[in-house]
Amino acid sequence: MTSATYRNYTETGAQLYQSFFVPAIATPVSGEPLAVANLQARERVVDVACGAGVLTRAAAERVGATGAVTGVDIAADMIEVARATPAGGAPIEWRQADASAPPPVRVVGVDQAWAQLAVARRRAGGPSSARAGAAALPFGDGAFDAVVACLVFEHIDEADAALAEVGRVLQPGGRFLLFLNHPLLEEPGSGWIDDTILEEQYWRIGPYLVEDKAMEEVEKDRFLPFVHRPLSRNINAMADAGLFVRRMEEPAPPPGFLARAQEYRDAATIPRLVFLFARRSR
Ligand SMILES: C[S@@+](CC[C@H](N)C(=O)[O-])C[C@H]1O[C@@H](n2cnc3c(N)ncnc32)[C@H](O)[C@@H]1O
Repeated sequence: MTSATYRNYTETGAQLYQSFFVPAIATPVSGEPLAVANLQARERVVDVACGAGVLTRAAAERVGATGAVTGVDIAADMIEVARATPAGGAPIEWRQADASAPPPVRVVGVDQAWAQLAVARRRAGGPSSARAGAAALPFGDGAFDAVVACLVFEHIDEADAALAEVGRVLQPGGRFLLFLNHPLLEEPGSGWIDDTILEEQYWRIGPYLVEDKAMEEVEKDRFLPFVHRPLSRNINAMADAGLFVRRMEEPAPPPGFLARAQEYRDAATIPRLVFLFARRSR
């Protein structure tokens, strides 16, 4: 079975990611979806898990100097590369943040009896705070006209909560551009099979309906979860968050990817990414 997959392109440092993945794959693949999103002057856009910022910069060009664009990523080295790369159009704010990390939440106990509260306070060792279990983006409600998320929801455990957050930070009618590794072709056990005994070549589909989480070492001692979910799971979670799919694309792999996958005879006919364009309900 082959190992060439878009997932491998996270197995590099930020600099390599920027110099290989970005020109060979992200740039050619993202042009059409960005056109579908039809970003306009003065719009506010956030790129969730922006990596080295390829889509962030493309969005900044499209909304122009009157727009405002934010790129958020958990990895300091990605943000460093993103910041150091020249960009045009809208001003870009780069933020290092965990798109799925819960914010600190103050837990407040309410009781009308002061005596009860005093006892509770003594037992708890004073006022306390805790971390809530939901994903959280560090932005206000309706802060953006468009949200972009490219190849990151596979790395987020709390995907439903994170999608709910996308719905929350979008204006009613706002657009959401979601790129995923194609779940039908990226589940565990899937891949191109070259059976030299039976002289058969085919793409094997693994246990697609079974959700699965693997920890992948993307660099030495740096692990990211890779969560497989059927496509319907994402689409239904989006609907629950008020995000309704208007368009879906399964782009053919670009030449830069095909050059790395010469062993797959039919590589050009097998989509490895899926792009969903959704609108938040009004
Ligand atoms: C495959 S890269 C995609 C980067 C970028 N969207 C692009 O298309 O070039 C996945 C990115 O997700 C980021 N990431 C993973 N989990 C994250 C989280 N919980 N919050 C924010 N960023 C995260 C990683 O640091 C990495 O930059």
